[in-house]
Amino acid sequence: MEWLLQLDYLNNLDELERYCLQCRRCKLRNTSSRVVFGEGDSAAKLMLVGEAPGAEEEQQGRPFVGNAGKLLNKILTASGFRREEVYITNVVKCRPPGNRNPTKEEADCCFVYLARQIEFIQPRLIVCLGLLATRYLVHREASVSAVRGSLFTKGGIKIVPTYHPAALLHDASRKKPVWRDFKKIRKLYLQ
Ligand code: URA
Repeated sequence: MEWLLQLDYLNNLDELERYCLQCRRCKLRNTSSRVVFGEGDSAAKLMLVGEAPGAEEEQQGRPFVGNAGKLLNKILTASGFRREEVYITNVVKCRPPGNRNPTKEEADCCFVYLARQIEFIQPRLIVCLGLLATRYLVHREASVSAVRGSLFTKGGIKIVPTYHPAALLHDASRKKPVWRDFKKIRKLYLQ
């Protein structure tokens, strides 16, 4: 990948996870009870990247297990994916207090983990769920409504941004566009 190679002394996803679970790079670890590294098939062809864990994710140590996660599971199933065959993570691995948005410093600090996860997993396709992932993986000033459903390619990996499932819980008019995006994602996945 063209992303800055850091933590290059870590040789595989397990080593990266162990390292990440001890992370003290930013202050989020002072208030979060645990790091949510990510889960799924370590050789997944499809990777989904959200923003940061919420309360439920922090409690279980797993990404997307709260209300947004339940909706994501439905979207995955409806578009032909099994959750176990994909890899799911977030840009920021610790829950920001009160579920506030992560700051730029926090996301910058944490991005190295996502970059290394991508290098180890080598997915063919990444879906950015919402703004933060879209800004870190596609373009720093992107707006999700402008780029969602479009195909980008970086370092040979296809990237498709779409709305965050939590956004669908607040605005049902976004369900149709997400459904269209996931039909496209499925086609790209099967190519
Ligand atoms: N929202 C996210 O962005 N990630 C999660 O893991 C849960 C909710």
